[in-house]
Parts: sequence; structure tokens; C-alpha cells
Amino acid sequence: MLEVLHHPLITHKLTQMRQNSTTTKDFRENLDEIAELMAYEVCRDLPTRPIEIETPVSKCIGYELSKEVVIVPILRAGIGLLDGIRRLVPTAKVGFIGMYRDEETLEPVEYFAKFPNDLEHSIVMIVDPMLATGGSANDAINQIKKRGAKNIKLVCLVGAPEGVQLIQKNHPDVDVYLAALDERLNEHGYIVPGLGDAGDRIFGTK
Ligand code: PRP
Ligand code: URA
Repeated sequence: MLEVLHHPLITHKLTQMRQNSTTTKDFRENLDEIAELMAYEVCRDLPTRPIEIETPVSKCIGYELSKEVVIVPILRAGIGLLDGIRRLVPTAKVGFIGMYRDEETLEPVEYFAKFPNDLEHSIVMIVDPMLATGGSANDAINQIKKRGAKNIKLVCLVGAPEGVQLIQKNHPDVDVYLAALDERLNEHGYIVPGLGDAGDRIFGTK
């Protein structure tokens, strides 16, 4: 399943992020706000269970989240989405997977992985602003499935058709959420029009 989350606030903030003139501070703040808005939609189908509670007036049945949520940012750039999602799901656990894309081959290179226990019964949200060739997200999903995860959502800001197709071919069970589906990749593997190098723009490197 692919869902592109069209919303005027998301579109407005993403347009600010895309602009070359946007400062690191504004880039990061807009990303953080979009993450929160996306989380609201991405969490729409989280399962709940009934619990008996007592209000100041009477007893009644309320509902609480019934499954653990685990957020897994793909380092570095995925960290930019973490706080916004955690504001909405403060009980979420956090795992990390470190990967960078070799600039020559465009293949992902993994350098770190640390996950909470019991991925098997959790809802795992892999987060990364960019889904370009899809190589990084594809490898991250493989690593997480190897550890038993069965319910995986991939949350990215901007996707290219090439990346979406790779994930849909290799992982048809993974739900993919984007704020925008862009036109294509250029010869350097950058998303067009995209927003440039997300990690560099978040962390002020380059
Ligand atoms: C970027 C981005 C994704 C990856 C997407 O990370 O944050 O992880 O590229 O490209 P792909 O879909 O072709 O794999 P990058 O390798 O620049 O590392 P960084 O987050 O450390 O900057
Ligand atoms: N990684 C980025 O940060 N941006 C792109 O456009 C492609 C990969």
C-alpha cells in the first residue's frame, strides 16, 4: 500500500523545505512539524483494546493502544523525523539503523543497528526523509524482518517512483507513507525536484 498524505499544511511546510534558500534551522523545524502531522495519519489504524476506567462521574469503557510502537530512524537523516512522531506516541520505543549511501555505487552501507526486544509483536515505523533508489529502506526492512517484525510501516517525506517500486516489489506487506511522490531520480541518484541532501540540510554539514 502506498499513501501520499496530501494536506495543505504538509504541502506548505514541504515547499519551504524544498527551497534552496531555507536555513538549517527552518529546514529542521519544518521537518519536525511535518513528522508530527504525518504521524497523526500513519497512526490512524493502530489497534486499541477496551479498558474499564472511572471518570469523576462514573465507570465506563475507554480504549488504549494495544500494541507496542517502535520507531526506527535510518541514521542520520531519519533522526529529523523522530521527535515529531514521539510527541504523538510518547510511549514508542526507538531502535536505530545506521546506513549511508555509497556515492559511487549508490548502494547502502550499514554501520550500526540497535533495536528493542520483541519486534515480532510491535508495529515498527521505519522513518527516513528520502526514498530515492529505495536501497537504504529495502535493507532496513530486511534487517528488521530478520529480527521477527511482521507489521512494518515505512514513513518518508519525499519518494521517487524508483524507490517506491523497489519496496512494493520486495516488500508488498509494508505500508509506505509519503508527503510527496516526486518525478524521478537524476544521474547522481538525487530525487528531482526533491530537496537536496536531507542529512546535510538537517545537520548543517557540507
Ligand atoms: C540518504 C537518505 C536515505 C538515503 C536514500 O541518506 O536519508 O537514507 O540517502 O537513498 P536511497 O533510497 O537511494 O538508498 P545518506 O546516505 O545521504 O546518509 P545520511 O542520512 O547520513 O546523510
Ligand atoms: N538522499 C538524499 O538526501 N536526497 C536525495 O535526493 C537522494 C538521496
